[in-house]
Amino acid sequence: MQFTTFALSALSIGSALAASSVTVHVVQVGAANGTLAYFPNNIKAAVGDMIQFQFAPNNHTVTQSTFDQPCMPIAMNSNVTGVYSGFMPVTASATTTPTYTVMVNATTPMWFYCSQGKHCQNGMTMVVNENTAANSTRSLANFQSLAAKATVNLPGGAIADGTAGSTASNSSSSSSGSSTSSSAGTKSTSASAAGRVRVGEADV
Ligand SMILES: *[C@@H]1O[C@H](CO)[C@@H](O)[C@H](O)[C@H]1NC(C)=O
Ligand SMILES: *[C@@H]1O[C@H](CO)[C@@H](O)[C@H](O)[C@H]1NC(C)=O
Ligand SMILES: *[C@@H]1O[C@H](CO)[C@@H](O)[C@H](O)[C@H]1NC(C)=O
Ligand SMILES: *[C@@H]1O[C@H](CO)[C@@H](O)[C@H](O)[C@H]1NC(C)=O
Ligand SMILES: *[C@@H]1O[C@H](CO)[C@@H](O)[C@H](O)[C@H]1NC(C)=O
Ligand SMILES: *[C@@H]1O[C@H](CO)[C@@H](O)[C@H](O)[C@H]1NC(C)=O
Repeated sequence: MQFTTFALSALSIGSALAASSVTVHVVQVGAANGTLAYFPNNIKAAVGDMIQFQFAPNNHTVTQSTFDQPCMPIAMNSNVTGVYSGFMPVTASATTTPTYTVMVNATTPMWFYCSQGKHCQNGMTMVVNENTAANSTRSLANFQSLAAKATVNLPGGAIADGTAGSTASNSSSSSSGSSTSSSAGTKSTSASAAGRVRVGEADV
């Protein structure tokens, strides 16, 4: 009797975990060695997937732009509010890594840049769901060429479209790919780094 009860509850827990599993793509923002890039900078993500940006030391952002106007928030050139992490200052000796997590809602391409200094112009750009089959001009390489020529680099105007948190340092060292985890894996989005927790409501 007791065994049956146990087996049933184990089964329910298993089903609950399976139902809540979500693919999380980890992207490292910048690098401790100073390289201005996202790692990786060209990813494919399905609707419902999460992208967790993990901020390396320095003071970077993740800001969404259009393809045609890199280094400018997408809201300046479209009706899309867009993703903006805000600046994430991280010292070289930090023991936690701030994160910013967004949910993918469509498979149309999303273009991102870092709005610090000239980071956008200097290679800190990336794409989610590049689609050169739909338009061969809209490649990451062409986006980076446009960015290199941009005359300004502007931050987003508001925190939007994602959830900030933090994760233990060094957890990102081998994770610049995709991984699958339960929704518990995104719990870092409610973490604690004071002054850095910004929950995007995105309903503007
Ligand atoms: C800097 O770090 C990145 C990722 O953390 C790595 O891919 C790159 O090879 C490093 N560059 C140098 C010059 O060490
Ligand atoms: C924004 O939306 C309005 C109303 O739907 C439309 O007239 C306008 O062209 C849109 N602007 C851009 C840049 O898409
Ligand atoms: C991070 O960069 C922003 C924009 O340049 C700046 O306003 C802010 O003071 C910087 N934060 C730190 C801690 O350096
Ligand atoms: C992270 O890794 C660096 C280099 O391997 C090490 O010096 C540092 O102590 C580590 N930090 C934590 C929090 O483990
Ligand atoms: C392809 O993308 C480029 C750059 O955004 C744009 O100028 C062009 O009009 C697009 N072509 C088509 C057929 O939509
Ligand atoms: C996807 O939609 C949700 C709900 O509206 C929103 O919170 C999130 O920011 C959106 N993701 C992106 C990348 O725009």
